[in-house]
Amino acid sequence: MKTQWVKSLHPGLEVATYFGVFDISLAKTKNGLKYLKLLLGDRTGTIEARVWDPDLAEEVYHMLAPGDIAVIRGTVIEFNGLQINVEHCRKTDKSRLNLNDFRPTTEKDIPALLKEFTAKISKVANPYLKTLLETIFEPKFLEQFAHATAARKIHHCYAGGLLEHTIEVMEYCFKVIEVQGEFIDPDLLITGAAIHDLGKLWEYDQNGFTFQRTKEGRLLGGHVILGRDFLREKVKLVKNFPKELSLHLEHLILSHHGQREWGAVEEPKTLEAIALHHADLLSARINQVGCLIKNHIGSTCWTNYDRYLGRSLFVPEKQHTPKRTDLPPESETQ
Ligand SMILES: [Fe+2]
Ligand SMILES: [Fe+2]
Repeated sequence: MKTQWVKSLHPGLEVATYFGVFDISLAKTKNGLKYLKLLLGDRTGTIEARVWDPDLAEEVYHMLAPGDIAVIRGTVIEFNGLQINVEHCRKTDKSRLNLNDFRPTTEKDIPALLKEFTAKISKVANPYLKTLLETIFEPKFLEQFAHATAARKIHHCYAGGLLEHTIEVMEYCFKVIEVQGEFIDPDLLITGAAIHDLGKLWEYDQNGFTFQRTKEGRLLGGHVILGRDFLREKVKLVKNFPKELSLHLEHLILSHHGQREWGAVEEPKTLEAIALHHADLLSARINQVGCLIKNHIGSTCWTNYDRYLGRSLFVPEKQHTPKRTDLPPESETQ
């Protein structure tokens, strides 16, 4: 049972609850005594922690690793922000706990999002694309897809973010078809939207707390190439899948970032690819800016400088310091 959330901690509070271990390292005080530095976290945020007892520091260092979940007992103090002085620590069996309680997670309802996603892909009528989508999104894969992040930073960077982003991109694509769809192949575009970022399942460590890029993600061309390779494997499973159709689908994945400097292997060269790129960018950008505004705290009208956008954003006064509404109740059980 997780009883105390990072966002609810304050100086003087005694804590005794589960935390995810985000980072851990041994250090030495000026007097040469060993102490332990920990970064702990849950779905509501992260907090620094210290073990000052040299023997306990050594013991905990050998017991825990990033990615573990531990029961921590200690006291919250104020030192360069909040910090926990750890008095006792015990590693727990992760499999009994809900991983999404220990990492940034969508505020939306994942089962409802999944329902929305499957309703959207069911609109694809082309029999080859329909079979392809059914082959890819079988129940076990859907479960994995639904809890994945879309990124480590920048946009939709939380568990469930990939599903949320994919639905938004599909929704924008449906809108383009409705408004300017005269020359667009709707089934091709919607299928491309559904699968465009699947490579992210292997680009990021989807079972960790901080969604680090994997070796495959860093060495094999990121999700664009990983996603194209995955598509090629799945297309082989659909009998008589037209070669030309597979070519178009691959192009949608390879070009969805729009420009080579943004990670595209090709620039979009079909109407569907141009539409997908803009739908993708719109979903990503709106989420990125929305998160910046949501996390803006303080009395100034300007957010911190965002190096990805290259600017600070103006936040109208009524949007300052919004309250979080996603904090689970104190007594919530797993
Ligand atoms: Fe992408
Ligand atoms: Fe995307």
